[in-house]
Amino acid sequence: MMKKIAVFASGNGSNFQVIAEQFSVEFVFSDHRDAYVLERAGKLGVTAHAFELKEFDNKVAYEEAIVTLLEKYDIDLICLAGYMKIVGPTLLAAYEGRIINIHPAYLPEFPGAHGIDDAWNAGVTESGVTIHWVDSGVDTGKVIKQVRIPRLVHDTIESFEERIHAAEYQLYPQVLESLGAERR
Ligand code: GRF
Repeated sequence: MMKKIAVFASGNGSNFQVIAEQFSVEFVFSDHRDAYVLERAGKLGVTAHAFELKEFDNKVAYEEAIVTLLEKYDIDLICLAGYMKIVGPTLLAAYEGRIINIHPAYLPEFPGAHGIDDAWNAGVTESGVTIHWVDSGVDTGKVIKQVRIPRLVHDTIESFEERIHAAEYQLYPQVLESLGAERR
């Protein structure tokens, strides 16, 4: 059986776009109602859902609403792609082992929200991209696949960042293929 996937994204959604162009995505979820990813979904004809944590009493209620959505669509695999919230106990209890995340550094190097800037500022000669299973830590789960990306002598932060993103757009489809996501 092919896996039914949902993508979670908070903002731009360029990784979502790459995924949705190649795979069948049941829906994209955004925790921001004005996120650009929702426009991308519209253009691609992918179902989109958006609601915000602040609309709920607490994070448990927010994640319960997410779980309801996931169950409604019978989702097998949640693909975090620029989803900027920590996955809490409610969502994790329901879906641990079925949630993956992409991180723009070579974990365990440079976890957290600023993996690219942090690697750049540390003056590394190489960084990377990682896709990993999501557990209760921040970017700590078991690595599925990762690639090394060099920082070149003439790089600016922009060109370095661009190379990291280009690698992300290669890696996510490879991993989804290997995990049995359905091609569109
Ligand atoms: C990516 O660099 C991803 O690795 C990180 O957030 C960024 C999301 O970019 N977690 P986009 O929204 O997919 O364009």
